[in-house]
Amino acid sequence: MPILPYPDGPIAIDLHISLDGPGDFASRIHRQLLDAILDGRLRPGERLPPTRELARRLNVSRNTVSAAYERLTAEGLLVARVGSGTYVGQAPVGHVRDVPEGAIRPRPVWDGLVEASDDAEAPTYDFRMGKPDAALFPLPVWRRLLAAEWRASTIRTAGYGAPAGHHGLREAIARSTGLSRSVRARGDDVVVTQGAQQAFDLIGRVLVEPGDIVAVEDPGYPPVRDLFRSLGARVVPVPVDREGLEVEALPDGARLVHVTPSHQFPLGTPMSLARRAALLDWAGRHDAVIVEDDYDSEFRFSDRPLDPLHSLDRAGRVLYVGTFSKTLLPMLRVGFLVAPASLRPALCAAKRLSDWHGEPVTQAALARFIDSGELARHVRKATRTYAARHELIAEALAGDLAAWLDPVPSTAGLHLCAVLKPDVSVDIPSVLARAGERGVAAQSLAKYGDEVSLQGVVLGYGAIPTERVQAGLAHLAKAFKDETKRPRGGLRSADFL
Ligand SMILES: Cc1ncc(COP(=O)(O)O)c(C=O)c1O
Repeated sequence: MPILPYPDGPIAIDLHISLDGPGDFASRIHRQLLDAILDGRLRPGERLPPTRELARRLNVSRNTVSAAYERLTAEGLLVARVGSGTYVGQAPVGHVRDVPEGAIRPRPVWDGLVEASDDAEAPTYDFRMGKPDAALFPLPVWRRLLAAEWRASTIRTAGYGAPAGHHGLREAIARSTGLSRSVRARGDDVVVTQGAQQAFDLIGRVLVEPGDIVAVEDPGYPPVRDLFRSLGARVVPVPVDREGLEVEALPDGARLVHVTPSHQFPLGTPMSLARRAALLDWAGRHDAVIVEDDYDSEFRFSDRPLDPLHSLDRAGRVLYVGTFSKTLLPMLRVGFLVAPASLRPALCAAKRLSDWHGEPVTQAALARFIDSGELARHVRKATRTYAARHELIAEALAGDLAAWLDPVPSTAGLHLCAVLKPDVSVDIPSVLARAGERGVAAQSLAKYGDEVSLQGVVLGYGAIPTERVQAGLAHLAKAFKDETKRPRGGLRSADFL
């Protein structure tokens, strides 16, 4: 039975003691306390429950508990302090017994999907992708809104909320994406999710049968590719050219096509209007669904963007997915999807079966953040900062780095891509490893290709402070220079002389 914390004691403990097993009750209590002290679950200085209290909870006599305590005291593991209680003494520090390794294996599809988490310390020059600048996050406003919601009506109901998410947030999302992205939707059309990733998961669960073909961009976004594989889909990578996904290369019979038309991931180019029209036409002829992943196009550094696929779609084939991971913070885990009415009941059911609903207090605070104009203000301010970094990177790609790399044109988002010049031979992973020694972290473009292999680098500018961009790129240029000079591997003529 669990022992509840003692409000009057200096340290609360919550230790489970079972009376099952061999030996008398005192021996069983002794053995379990001993184990807990030796493996570190009970730490030196922690106060044990009074004998009377523990006896009552275990429904044994007080003498039984006292006998166990006295034995542990005699063994030097407990210390009795008159008038205060019984405490854990300075026992040899043990370690908690490991959870057994176990022989049960996951489904084979998971073998290739297990990845180490990325909690490495931030490098000095952080060009990693996908990270917004946490220093730009309007913390005081957010804290105020969150505190207000923790006090107010949100928690009064104290029950489960609607799977589609906080009503006010759905309305706010519909209005704001209507204004900023011309996505025409009402609040009822929106389902709030735990980031865009959960939106893809719900869509997959509702629409994709094991064995169905799912087409993804190549290069593309690995978490989406992996997710659909984990759901049993046959994921087919489709090449991307300067206009976007090559529609004529789509496999017949694809049930679903995932695309990033505003800012192709990772190349950064927008999909041309002609390609958008061709994709919608293709989906109509093949009875396929398009998932439009609009993950970071709020940050735009030029004229109005092309209309999203969603607003060009007249047949209800496009599911629009957005996220606050880039405009605010990934740790908020708030994203959303806009779905045709025909799919919403099933998507809401999938959401309920997944996690019932997201976190309503955050969602309510976010609704106010959007409605009060704070989101638009924040995006405007952050866009200025990101535009300056984008500009500095573009300058370096046209200057110091121009001997090796060609920039891929891009006017939005939080990263830029550059491909290796056709006549240059240098090993990008070696360059990045060398740059890494100088505190630079950037990613190789090849990492995002499935069958298509493009050599180049992706430079994220969400996380790196503006004043470090030039120095970081100078280190990268030096790494390119050093690697170009380095003799290539294999035998050289000097080896024969
Ligand atoms: C292509 C793409 N889609 C979606 C997302 C957003 O994912 P989430 O909202 O789950 O954080 C990202 C984030 O990096 C992305 O790069």
